Order: sequence, then structure tokens, then C-alpha cells
Amino acid sequence: MPYALIAGWGMYVPPRVVTNDAFERMGLDTSDEWIATRTGIEQRRLVGRDEATSDMAVRAAEHALQVAGGHVGDIDLVLVATCTPDQVMPSTASIVQDRLGISDAGALDLNAACAGFVYALTMGAGQIESGRAKQVLVIGADALSIHLNWKDRSTCILFGDGAGAVLLRASDEPGVLSTTMGSDGSGAGLLSIPGGGSRLRTNGNGTSNGDSYLQMNGPQIFRWATQMMTKAAERVMHASRLKAEQIDLFIPHQANMRIIEATAKRLGLPLERVFANVARYGNTSAASIPIALCEAIENGLVKRGDNIVLTSFGAGLSWAAAAVRWGVDVPSHVPPWTPLRWRLETRIAAVRSAIRRQERKVRASIDERLHRDEG
Ligand code: ACO
Repeated sequence: MPYALIAGWGMYVPPRVVTNDAFERMGLDTSDEWIATRTGIEQRRLVGRDEATSDMAVRAAEHALQVAGGHVGDIDLVLVATCTPDQVMPSTASIVQDRLGISDAGALDLNAACAGFVYALTMGAGQIESGRAKQVLVIGADALSIHLNWKDRSTCILFGDGAGAVLLRASDEPGVLSTTMGSDGSGAGLLSIPGGGSRLRTNGNGTSNGDSYLQMNGPQIFRWATQMMTKAAERVMHASRLKAEQIDLFIPHQANMRIIEATAKRLGLPLERVFANVARYGNTSAASIPIALCEAIENGLVKRGDNIVLTSFGAGLSWAAAAVRWGVDVPSHVPPWTPLRWRLETRIAAVRSAIRRQERKVRASIDERLHRDEG
């Protein structure tokens, strides 16, 4: 059975930085001190008006594909984990697939909120292990800031936007060792964005009376998250026969520094082997783990042969974890021709896509004329 190896990785965060003191300036009854001590967050990045989830996903995926090398035409499946798609339909994955020029690949979105990336990694690895795919692009991308109520101090300070991606490739060398997923829908009401779906529909003018705001019972989520992230991590460690001392790097979902520390303590992992960047980005939902992975790599914390455990939780309630053996050397630099070749490939893809759109228009107008003549 082939392994799913992480062969490429990339991240993107929007340029707009919002520091904690901005909330005080907005007139919110909070402080940098409260936010930093209760969550560990110091700043977050937010999408601009013209920036959608697919824009961030494409940027992260471009980096991942450049690192992995190879050709976009060889990718079999594009998975985008997101709870903030560009539109209800089509899938954000289809938009990303077209923009990257990945023709003839399956493409779908997956929503497991903040646990989405590890869910998607599990699905992508499964496709490779079963022999149904050779290369799968897995992206976690979210712009939760569009659902925040900027007057609710208990939620709006927590989240940021961003995207992270990995390219999974079939290999004889170990990559993803084991995964676990779970869900407990009895807790669905603890963290939700109720409006805009088939239950609470948007009004004719597109508004939904505040139901499109993220709503959360913070303290209950906090208690549950620590337990579930620990349990999920223990499951994959057990399945991969890894003891705490054999874990080189632990990358938990970046929601709150206190949750990260409590989880690491329960697992018996010293903080030197725990990666955290929640201070810089806040909770970026499905993007949080791949962004953290990219930054850990950039900081020289990952090398071939390392055992890495990823663990996550999110709305659902849902959770997922993965144990990964790092199977590639981290390149010290990307060859200068790689971005050039890449730019050329995406240009060709954009032209191909434009031609297809025109073809479709011409065909539709011919059909219409024939119909009229027949009538
Ligand atoms: N500034 C100042 N005071 C605040 C703020 C704020 N931003 N937010 C809440 N408070 C107040 C509360 O009103 C409360 O005041 P009171 O005692 O007078 O009633 C007090 O601080 C304590 O509130 P708690 O909610 O008990 O504070 P807690 O220590 O639990 O921290 C927090 C709140 C940060 C939200 C924490 O519960 C948490 O991180 N929960 C987990 C959230 C999370 O991880 N969500 C991720 C979801 S993943 C996904 O799928 C999207």
C-alpha cells in the first residue's frame, strides 16, 4: 500500500494586520492585556474587501506546488477545507482548480470548520493509500472575519483569515502514518453560524438579521477542546506506536494558547516540541494547522524522519488528528526557474480557461439560434 507523503507546502495570509489595541480604539470594552493573557493572541490578518477565500487558497497552493515540483496536470484531486466558501456553489475547490490550471482533476469542498484541514488530509491520504489517486492537493482556507460581529468582544477578537496547503504524493516512504476523525453533533449549538443555509434562509435582499454572525459558547468549547485534542492525538500516537518522547513536533489547532498548553501538558509534551503561532494570526480556522506547519518548516523545526502530530477541533463539534513521518528534505531554496515555469503554466491555464468560456458562449448562442429556427 502506498503512503501519502507531504511533498509540498505553502501558506498565505492577507497583508492587513489588526493588533489587539484596534478593538479598544473601535470602542469595544476590552484590552490588549485581556486578549493577550486569556488567548495568547496579539494580532491577526484580515481579508480586504476584494479578497475571497479562493484568492488566499490559490496563493497558498501555488507555493505548495512550487515546493513539490512536477506538473499541475498530474494532480488527481483538489480538496478545499473551508467553512467560508466564495459562494454556496460552485465549490471553492472548483474555482481554485481552474485558476491553478489543474485540468481534469476532481474538486470538492469539505466543511469540518477548524478541524477541516486534518479531515481533508485524512481524505486525501485515503485516496492515495487506496490507489485511487497519485497526487492530491489539500488546502485549508478560511475568512471567518466576514462572519464576525465586531460588537461582540467574546468572539471578534479570536479569529483571523488565511490559507495553507500541502501536496500529497504517493510514495513507498512513510508520510501520513495514521489519522482519526470524530464528531459529536449534540454540541452543534455551541459554535455556529446559523444563517444562510436551508434552516434560516437569507432574506430576499441577502441579509439575515444577524444570523450570519458566528456565535459561540467560549467556556464550554474551551473545556471540550482540551479534552478532545488530547484524545485525538493519543489515538493517532497509539495507532502509529509513537510514545510522547518520540514526537519531534506537535502542531495543535491554533485557537487559544491556554488550550495549546493544556493539551501539551496532558500529552506529556514539553513546550519546546509544541509549535504555536496563534499570537500572530489568531484562529484561522481550517488554515491554522497548515499555516503552522509552514512556519515550523521555515523556522528549521522539521527534518526528514521527524514524527509530527497534528490535532484539531472545531464546530460540529468535530475533531481530527494525524501522525505524520516527515519524508522529504526541506529545500534550502526554490530554484529560480520554478516560479517562472509556474507562472507560465498558470498563464497557459488562464488562457485555456478563457477559451473554454468563449467556446461555451458560442455553443450556447448557436444552440439558441437553432432552437429559434426550429420554432
Ligand atoms: N475582553 C474583556 N473581557 C472579556 C472579553 C474580551 N474580549 N471577552 C469576554 N470577556 C469577559 C466576559 O464577559 C466575562 O465577564 P464576566 O465575568 O463579567 O461575565 C469574563 O471576561 C470571563 O469570560 P469567559 O468567557 O469565562 O472567559 P474565558 O477565560 O473562558 O475566555 C475565551 C474566553 C477566550 C473565548 C475562551 O473561552 C476560549 O478561548 N474558548 C475557546 C474558543 C475557541 O477555541 N473557539 C474555536 C473554535 S474552532 C472553529 O471551529 C471555528
